[in-house]
Amino acid sequence: MKKKKLNIGLIGFGFMGRTHSNAYRKVTNFFDIPYEPVLQTICGLEEDKSKAFADRWGYKTWTTDWHKVVEDKNVDVIDICVPNNVHAEIAIAAAKAGKAILCEKPLALNSEQAKTMVDAVEKAGVANMVSFNYRRVPAVTLAKKLIDEGRLGRIFHYRANFLQDWTISTKVPQGGIATWRLDVKAAGSGVTGDLLAHCIDTAMWHNGPINNVCAMTETFVKERMNVDTGKVEPVGIDDACTFFCKFDNGSLGNFESTRYARGHKALYTFEINGENASIAWDLHDLHRLSYFDHRDDSIVRGWRSIHVTDGDMPYMDKWWVPGLQIGYEHTFVHQAADFLQGMAEGKPASPTFREALATQQVCDAVLKSARNKSWEKVPR
Ligand SMILES: NC(=O)c1ccc[n+]([C@@H]2O[C@H](COP(=O)([O-])OP(=O)(O)OC[C@H]3O[C@@H](n4cnc5c(N)ncnc54)[C@H](O)[C@@H]3O)[C@@H](O)[C@H]2O)c1
Repeated sequence: MKKKKLNIGLIGFGFMGRTHSNAYRKVTNFFDIPYEPVLQTICGLEEDKSKAFADRWGYKTWTTDWHKVVEDKNVDVIDICVPNNVHAEIAIAAAKAGKAILCEKPLALNSEQAKTMVDAVEKAGVANMVSFNYRRVPAVTLAKKLIDEGRLGRIFHYRANFLQDWTISTKVPQGGIATWRLDVKAAGSGVTGDLLAHCIDTAMWHNGPINNVCAMTETFVKERMNVDTGKVEPVGIDDACTFFCKFDNGSLGNFESTRYARGHKALYTFEINGENASIAWDLHDLHRLSYFDHRDDSIVRGWRSIHVTDGDMPYMDKWWVPGLQIGYEHTFVHQAADFLQGMAEGKPASPTFREALATQQVCDAVLKSARNKSWEKVPR
């Protein structure tokens, strides 16, 4: 198959810039998609690092000005891997320039801003997708298939946790590279937008819309040095967030996220309990899905641990042989494959900006509920 070249302009070469670049380099080796992504331009804040990144990863050109990437006639896709406060400006300019857009999560600082991004991409009619990559862990995709097949029956409970421990020290600053997450101006929120957004996206994909939330947040360290201003400043983000919710299908949700769970680096887990069966998943063991089916004969009934590596399991026919597992980086390869395939077919790959707006609306309702100490309805 002769593949059409598709030039990528990637903005932000930190953690996500690496995962996305790696995905574009590998995707056509494993997936039959009609496009050949070409690493055209990389953009980051620092000149020396931008150049070094271009050399290491094979980008043809580099710049420190994202406007140049968006205006570049040679660029077909804008991939946004910068802190949350820069997403909207770049995405709206890219939509106006007619580029396809893959944007990191959370879509925006808040749902009001996210709505302007949805309007921009829909008005321009450009392909758009948000990088909620955990949907594309084969075990998580398999969970969706089992739920859609009705194996669980009526769903009663959905619970998810995303636990980390990297901000317990009061010496961790806010602002700057990577620690921009602790600065509310750059991040929009703390664990709610950074971590729970993933859990909410997966949960609504699995179990349908969330309509009401009741939340509690805490900021354990009230002041931190801001490396951008050089001053000790109040901390405006939520360090921890716990919320209950109701789904449209009548089930109850229970979510918790914190960066103060000593011993946990990135423990994303979920469990879904249905009338007939339950499912559980753990990011630290991401290639396994736990499944319990009450309809099994009682003498062999129990939780089974499904090793998600067989060729008839989601995405796995593209990789090695049954029994050999894949990992975190592959979720981004799957994402690139689905995004590019969607572009080729003119079908939006999920989650689109509009779907990510729904997640943002839940995040906003969670933060509002915590502020007001009340149940909040999620706007639609
Ligand atoms: N999908 C996931 O699981 C996941 C994981 C981590 C981060 N993220 C998201 O990805 C985005 C980036 O996070 P990260 O961890 O890669 O951050 P990072 O701090 O590692 O890197 C940020 C990059 O953005 C660049 N940058 C910042 N402002 C810029 C500007 N105005 N113009 C050009 N470049 C600019 C910096 O030079 C840096 O290269 C965030 O939105 C974050 O929420 C998603």
